[in-house]
Amino acid sequence: MKQINVGIVGYGVVGNGVARILEEKKELLIKKSGIQINLKKVFTRNWNKSFPYPLPEEKKAYSLEEITEDKDIDIVVELTGGIEFPYNLITECIKKGKHVVTANKALLAEKGKDVFLLAEEKGIRIGFEAAVAGGIPIIRALREGLVANSIERIYGILNGTTNYILTKMLKEKKDFNSVLKEAQELGYAEADPTLDINGTDAAHKIAILASLSYGGFIDFSGIYVEGIEKVNNLDISLGRELGYTLKLLAIAKSHNGEIEVRVHPTFLPSEHPLAKVDGVYNAVMVEGDSVGETMFYGKGAGSLPTASSVISDIVDIGKSIALGVGREIEVTSMNWEHKDLSLT
Ligand code: HSE
Repeated sequence: MKQINVGIVGYGVVGNGVARILEEKKELLIKKSGIQINLKKVFTRNWNKSFPYPLPEEKKAYSLEEITEDKDIDIVVELTGGIEFPYNLITECIKKGKHVVTANKALLAEKGKDVFLLAEEKGIRIGFEAAVAGGIPIIRALREGLVANSIERIYGILNGTTNYILTKMLKEKKDFNSVLKEAQELGYAEADPTLDINGTDAAHKIAILASLSYGGFIDFSGIYVEGIEKVNNLDISLGRELGYTLKLLAIAKSHNGEIEVRVHPTFLPSEHPLAKVDGVYNAVMVEGDSVGETMFYGKGAGSLPTASSVISDIVDIGKSIALGVGREIEVTSMNWEHKDLSLT
């Protein structure tokens, strides 16, 4: 059986979930994929703290080079935060011939063009299912399931932290700051929760979905973004009395060759399917010209839901390595032309 060796960089909420599933579901993954995935090494800056899924000593890397220089590692899973460090890591891995799986939406939304063009040049695959909507396989749906469609509109709730906050403010009348603290404790929020609250995280995700839907690169700085910082309990409860529910929506649609992309709080009629999406759940509505309206729903953050998506990429890339077709052309396989999309 083909063996695929994986190294993980970053051992936070998601990294722990990925290691747990890879170790505890080894047999299930073999049965479902026909390949054996070995977690070889994990790098984190500080092993001197307690982890939800502790690792044996032989799996701990104490330098990045133990992963990047290891010729037996086929896939590097990047689960760090920020942009500069993961950018350097991912480009180094690509140049060394290692396939990459990342959950880093900030990096892909802001520097994805450089990463994908380099990956294409080197014949390397980048898996990023976990970068958008946690456990919902929306990237695969756009790339494969909906391939027969021109996408007319894609919109939804793409940030679990803010949806959790809005839900608790509405249903339990809790105040903003105490619910934010809960979301942080549950491992939903970004390391810097400002990115959740001010809409940037949802904007990163809709930029990635818009790129996939409309076949080109989005200028992230051109997206209109407004978060939930100014929302208070009174806005939410008054809206509800009038028959509306407040949600942070991310929206992308095309108008005569131009793409409109925006993120902002929106009052939805309370009977709208998105108005009923509560807590950490995300939902994405996609309207295609062949299929009509579709809706994807699931947990948008958290350890195991996000790890589920990371592992789907590891298995997908691992299978293509096993089949000898691993050198897929990344940009072309996403139906991207090498063009920048213009935003309205
Ligand atoms: N902070 C993100 C969220 C994590 O709350 O949706 C998942 O991308």
